[in-house]
This record gives sequence, C-alpha cells and structure tokens, in this order.
Amino acid sequence: MKIMKFLIILLFICGCTPQQSKPQPQTIPPTPLPENGFLIIGHRGASAYAAGHTLAAYEMAVLMGADYIEIDLQMTKDGKLVALHDSVVTLHNAQQAVADVTFDEIQLLSPGKEFDKNHLSYTLPNFLELRIVDLSEILNYFGDRVNYYIEIKSPKVYPGIEEELLRQLQEHQLLNRVDPIPKVIIQSFNTKSLQEIFAMEPSIPLIKLYTFGKKAHLSKKELKELTEYASGVGVNVEAINRKFIDKMHSENLLVHPYTVNDEETMRSLMNYDVNGIFTDRPDVALRVRNEKNNTDIELYP
Ligand code: G3P
Ligand code: CA
Repeated sequence: MKIMKFLIILLFICGCTPQQSKPQPQTIPPTPLPENGFLIIGHRGASAYAAGHTLAAYEMAVLMGADYIEIDLQMTKDGKLVALHDSVVTLHNAQQAVADVTFDEIQLLSPGKEFDKNHLSYTLPNFLELRIVDLSEILNYFGDRVNYYIEIKSPKVYPGIEEELLRQLQEHQLLNRVDPIPKVIIQSFNTKSLQEIFAMEPSIPLIKLYTFGKKAHLSKKELKELTEYASGVGVNVEAINRKFIDKMHSENLLVHPYTVNDEETMRSLMNYDVNGIFTDRPDVALRVRNEKNNTDIELYP
C-alpha cells in the first residue's frame, strides 16, 4: 500500500497524471529564414528574361538562384487555377474576364509573342511557343524542388479559390513539411482571403500585400489585425523607408518589397535589413546578396 501511495505521488510530481488539456490560443508560426536572411523571390519567374508566368520564366528563376518562384493565380470558368497576372484577357479581339473563359480558350493566348514585342534583346525563337499554364501543371513539373510564393488574385471574383489552392498543395504534399525555408508562402491584397487560408491551414506563412500611394504606414488597429494571421507584408518599394521597416520588424512582421530590379536599390534594402525582394532579375539579386555576404565576411573575419 505504501509503495502504491509513493507511486501515485511520483506520477503526480512528474506530471504524468491525466490532466484537463486547456485549449491553446492559435499562434502564428514563425517563418524560418535562410542563413543570409534575404529571400530572392522570382517575380512571375525571371520575368525580365522570359514571358512571365511561363514554365521557362519559372525555370530560369530557379537556375538564376531565386529562393521562390512567384505565381499569380486567377481561376477560369472551368475551375482551373491559372498562372496569370491580369483578371481580364483579350480573346477573339474582345476583352473577357478570366472567370468567363475556359482554360482551353486561354491557351489561344501566346505569352511569348507578347514578350517578344517588348523585350527584343532577350528573346529566343522558341519563346514564341510558350504557353499559359495552370497550377497543377506547375506543381507536376517542379514538384518539391522549388519553393512557391503564391498570390491569390481577385478572390472576390473566384469563390472557392482558397479551398482549391489548398487542395492542390496538399495533393502534392507541399504543406506541413520540415524544410530549411517554407515550401509555400501565400500572399494577397485581400485580407479576407488570407484569413480564410489561415483558418484552414495556419501553418502556411501569409504575406499581406499593400500598395501605398505615399509613405507606407499602418495604423495600430491595422497592425493588430495583421499580426493575428500574417507573417509579413509585401509593399511597393517606392513607399517604404527605414522607419516603416523597423516598425514591421518590431511587430515580428517580415518585409518583402516589390518589384526591385536595380542593384542600387537592392543594396540599400539589404542594408535596411528587409527580409527579401520580389525581382524580375533574380540573377542580379543573387550577385548583390553574394557581394554583401562576402563583404560581411571580410569585415568581420
Ligand atoms: O505579389 C507582389 C507583387 O507581385 C504584387 O504586384 O501586380 O506584380 O502582382 P503584381
Ligand atoms: Ca504578384
């Protein structure tokens, strides 16, 4: 009997007795960063060198050292998540909403031809054969060898886009993994859409996008709401300054300015400790990042 009592006391001290589990408040998982702390996000792929949102542009971004390929998503009439920046396309000489046309109809567009008109110096002949692709083709092609930074565009026009996106990411086993940096980041200008994603899959880091007309600023109320679901902000680069970046960091929010293509701005932003940039030129960003890292090593051997 004495031994029994002793065992019960021991179990209690060790915390092994069954206890009522308290509901835990939901917390935002921190976004792990690579050692250099500066992510290169290939904006629509390496879109300075190939038509944006094509497999060629994404592949180039990867080859040029991008940490992420950035994908804008719209949804077609037949429910395909298509990689496209605009919610309206020109088909049969008429403007049509992506939501009103099928994915097959979208295939009539020639992104390489459009690119060819504007970027003659970089164009190769086979760029003319490039196609618009949907998310499933992108995920089948790249699998888990790349990291995805996905923007939900115009979610109000596409009911169910959040569920379909998560379904595909789950199907490809891209969620709830252990990786050096998150395999998937989701971004949107739409708060409600991000909150819906957070409610369904809180492990995905979320970035709230903003376009500020003047200096970037978020009120206390906005910050409070933001920190309940987001890991960071994506902001037009012209609007940010050191004060804003420091403020976001003090709230544990990452800062990813868009779209940065010149070396000088890249260097300044790195010195301001931003956490990454959207760029059409991942090769340039990689050179600047390497340069900075080497400089640091020389300064502090
Ligand atoms: O997603 C960040 C940045 O790409 C937002 O602008 O118009 O290029 O999608 P946009
Ligand atoms: Ca985007």
